[in-house]
Amino acid sequence: MKKITAAAVIIALMTSLCGCSETNLNSDSLLSVSGSSENSTPENITVSSANPMVITDNEIDSDITIEKGGVLTLNGDIELRGDLYVEGKLEVSESAIIFGDGVIHVVNSFDDIDCKGAVKVKIDAPEPVEIDGVTYVGGILLVNKKYGLPRDFGEDIGDIRPELKNAIEQMRADTGFGMTLREFSGYRSYATQEWWFNYYCETDGYDNAVTYSALPGHSEHQTGLAADITRTELDYADTPEGKWLAANCWKYGCIIRYPEDKVDITGYIYEPWHIRYLGKSTAKLVHDSGLCLEEFLEVDSV
Ligand code: DAL
Ligand code: ZN
Repeated sequence: MKKITAAAVIIALMTSLCGCSETNLNSDSLLSVSGSSENSTPENITVSSANPMVITDNEIDSDITIEKGGVLTLNGDIELRGDLYVEGKLEVSESAIIFGDGVIHVVNSFDDIDCKGAVKVKIDAPEPVEIDGVTYVGGILLVNKKYGLPRDFGEDIGDIRPELKNAIEQMRADTGFGMTLREFSGYRSYATQEWWFNYYCETDGYDNAVTYSALPGHSEHQTGLAADITRTELDYADTPEGKWLAANCWKYGCIIRYPEDKVDITGYIYEPWHIRYLGKSTAKLVHDSGLCLEEFLEVDSV
């Protein structure tokens, strides 16, 4: 692998201005800057809308900012040592493996990353923002024991969102498993969640109920972006369908929202049946990180 520094990028940018519409920084183009010292001080590189950039098989020592409108494509083995700030688009192609001590900072939205390859570096999330009583982190709607929803949220649609519906239908079609969406286990209104929470409190006691049922206003089911698939019993995880769901739902844009080893962080028991739709690229990032959503978004659950 060759090393990318600011000097290398400037030479490549000048080359691109002489006719090419895209700047390609690959091993060949870097031959012209092979003199870059191992000890060179990292400088900031900016990817602007005028100069899309492709980096292939390189070590990146510099900090890189992808400005709004800019596009950076990463291919092959990339050792990231500097920080990468994503305000524009970051395309991680299928061949890409990003590793190293560098950090990818999402400035605005996780949708700005189109991830098909493997990202093994830390991804830093932006701070939560509240819009009309709803909390978003990098464009991801966040609901948990700490972050709630307005009482009437989702009532205008009153169903699971089409993107989740399509994901479930696609999983069913691809596997032949039932992937049944249980009654009351797709979208739930505040009133429905309240009814179930009260029911569990009456039949099982408050202390038990809060380990598996969200308080009204705090259930992901109220977003239309969550669904309980087929059977809400723990041994669903041991069925062929449950195993497949855990291993593959990220490919359809979903995550198992309350994993077995994250109970202390999510505040809920393992729910192998509860999937949350995030979109394919973000679901892949979360899945590959091995983190639960709270850890990935760097937020508290309680
Ligand atoms: N069972 C999940 C936590 C809910 O009630 O939304
Ligand atoms: Zn659920």
